[in-house]
Amino acid sequence: MKKLVFSGIQPTGNIHIGNYLGAIQHWVNSQDKYNNIFCVVDLHAITVPQDPKVLRAKSRELAGLLLASGIDPKKSELFIQSHIGEHCELAWILNCITPMGWMQRMTQFKEKSEKQKENVSVGLFDYPALMAADILLYQADLVPVGEDQKQHVEITRDIAQKFNSTYGETFKIPEPVIAEVGARIMGLDDPTKKMSKSETSQNHAVLLLDPPDAIRAKIMRATTDSLREIKFDENRPGIYNLLVIYELFTKKSRDEIESMYEGKGYADFKKDLAEVIIEGIRPVQEKYKEITADPAYIDSLLTKSAERLRPIAQKTLNLVKERMGIG
Ligand code: TYM
Repeated sequence: MKKLVFSGIQPTGNIHIGNYLGAIQHWVNSQDKYNNIFCVVDLHAITVPQDPKVLRAKSRELAGLLLASGIDPKKSELFIQSHIGEHCELAWILNCITPMGWMQRMTQFKEKSEKQKENVSVGLFDYPALMAADILLYQADLVPVGEDQKQHVEITRDIAQKFNSTYGETFKIPEPVIAEVGARIMGLDDPTKKMSKSETSQNHAVLLLDPPDAIRAKIMRATTDSLREIKFDENRPGIYNLLVIYELFTKKSRDEIESMYEGKGYADFKKDLAEVIIEGIRPVQEKYKEITADPAYIDSLLTKSAERLRPIAQKTLNLVKERMGIG
């Protein structure tokens, strides 16, 4: 029996090369090895205010981008979270067994709520319970994510273990899978902060749908340092981040890259990097155009996936209710 992979991505902001290198690419590359479920998490998106029309469009756009990146509907399920109501029902139940103290330790909540102060929704605080529900409903074995989501997978494990020890074996305990390189791509304008969809400044991220000239401009303006050598040195976060992006797109070894750029300047390297990224995402952009030419195709695929998955979600939820004496 193949192991089951579950992962999700929010349809907010614009998908960037951090999402692609840290998560999407790994989902695509391991599709044959595992059974796979990928989810566009629109219910997570509404933990902060969204324009309804934009959100609906972004959910479809993201599904299209995932397909264009190589998620193969013959090998993987791809669905929209809100299409399966069981996610909310299980999230409520998990809320009731999760101590406030565990949630209060979540660093992503601390960071995000810092930006919004009084307007922070209860949903944003409770976000990890919904994420736990996503994963546990399908009894996933593996959860491939970027570094920033590791803590959320760990709390999922804690919640599942607490449920199992209180009510009897019910949930499989999932494991996070985090890439050794590229699990935390940093912002181009500020390499001390992770590249983020919610960051709006112009030169922060290369987006998956950016045209070539925009990519060239962003990379040429990327923050580096006043040193010269082009070396993989984590203490020089700007150039290190650019080198990691180069490494991941070209699959060349670090030694090879360093020797290619020995004696050359940052400008030469950045020019090449921009072309490497442009070529790396060109197939995704071309496929995206093809796929979105027929929006009905994406919608029908999402609906069919949800239909196949709903009975699995219901089965887990029924077991949970039985164990808890509800329903
Ligand atoms: P989201 O939408 O913020 O990000 C989607 C995936 O991209 C990864 N990622 C990055 N990887 C490397 N460098 C970066 N700068 C970078 N930024 C983002 C994320 O780690 C993630 O893997 N809560 C999740 C979505 C979610 C989920 C789930 C994931 C909901 N339910 C169940 C797994 C399982 C999120 O907001 O991801």
